[in-house]
Amino acid sequence: MANSISKIAVLTSGGDSPGMNAAIRSVVRSCAYMKLKCVAIYRGYQGMIDGDFKEMNARSVNNIINKGGTILKSARCMEFRTPEGRKKGHDQLKKHNVDALVVIGGNGSFAGALKLNEEFNFPVMGIPGTIDNDILGTSYTIGFDTAINTVVEVIDKIRDTASSHNRLFFIEVMGRDVGHIALNAGVGAGAEEILIPEQNLGLDRLLDSLKRSKKSGKSSSIVIVAEGDKTGKNVFELKEYVEEHLPIYDVRVSVLGHMQRGGNPTCFDRVLASRMGVRAVEALLEGKTNYMVGIRDHKLILTPISEAIKAHTAVDEELIRVSDIMTT
Ligand code: F6P
Repeated sequence: MANSISKIAVLTSGGDSPGMNAAIRSVVRSCAYMKLKCVAIYRGYQGMIDGDFKEMNARSVNNIINKGGTILKSARCMEFRTPEGRKKGHDQLKKHNVDALVVIGGNGSFAGALKLNEEFNFPVMGIPGTIDNDILGTSYTIGFDTAINTVVEVIDKIRDTASSHNRLFFIEVMGRDVGHIALNAGVGAGAEEILIPEQNLGLDRLLDSLKRSKKSGKSSSIVIVAEGDKTGKNVFELKEYVEEHLPIYDVRVSVLGHMQRGGNPTCFDRVLASRMGVRAVEALLEGKTNYMVGIRDHKLILTPISEAIKAHTAVDEELIRVSDIMTT
C-alpha cells in the first residue's frame, strides 16, 4: 500500500466551517509538493456519486486560505448512506483513477468514509471540520475557534444594549448535541448563565441564579443557550417563563444562527487546517488508512475513524467550574 498512491481526492461534507478552504489548500499543495496528482470532488458525497471531479494543482487554491465556507461546496447526502450509493461513488473514484480519499467534515462525513473503506477497501483519511468541536480524537476541530470568536464578538455588541436598557438577553448559539460553543463563548463573553445539553440544571436553578444576580446588583444579564439544551424549552419559551416568574426582568431573545458558521477563519484555524492537511497526505503515503488527523497538546495525532465517531467529546468540567465561579 505504502507506494501505491499516486492520486488523492479531497472533498468537504456536512455543515461547512471556517477553515475548510485552508484545509483543501493544504491537501492540494501537499499533493503538489509530494508529486502526487490531486482531484477535488465538488458537493461532497453527492458530487462523488455524480462524478463532479476536477483536477487540481497548486495554483487552483490561490487566495482561499482567508475565505470562509468551502470552495468545493458541501452537502448532506442521503444516497451515500445506502450501499448502492456508495457503489456508485466508488465506481466514480475508480473511473477517475483515484487511489485515496481525504474527507474534511464531521461525524456523519466520517461514517461515510468508514463505510467506503469497509466495503471496497478504499484508503481514506479524515480531517475534522465542524464548528461544533464534538469529535473524539482531537482537542480542536477546524472552524471552532473562528465560531467562538464570532459569537463572543456578537455577545459583546448585545451586551451594550443589555446594559443600556437593563435587560436580560437569552442568546441561542449552535451546538445540536454538545455545548462547546456555548460554554467557551459564554465564559469568554462573561455570560451570567450558560445552558448546555450536557448539563440539565433545570429551570429552578435558572430562576435562582437570575434572582441572585439581581440581588447582587447586576442590572443586566446574558444567558447563553446551546440549541441542543435540555431544559425542554427553546429560547422564546424561556423568555416567557422568566417573564412570568420574574416580571422584574425585561427580556429579549437573539438567535445567532448561521452567522456562526461564516466569516474569515481565525489564524488558529488556518494554521490548524494547514497542519492537518499536510499530515493527512503524509499519513496516506505512509500506508495508513481509516484514520482521522487530530491535535492534542499541540501535537498532531491519528485516531481510527471508528473511534472518532463513537461518541461526542465531553465538555471541559474545569471550564464549567470556572463559569460557575465567574457568575458570582
Ligand atoms: O454541525 C454544525 C451545525 O452548525 C450545528 O451546530 C447545527 O445544529 C447544524 O450544523 C445546523 O445544520 P444546517 O445548516 O443543516 O441547518
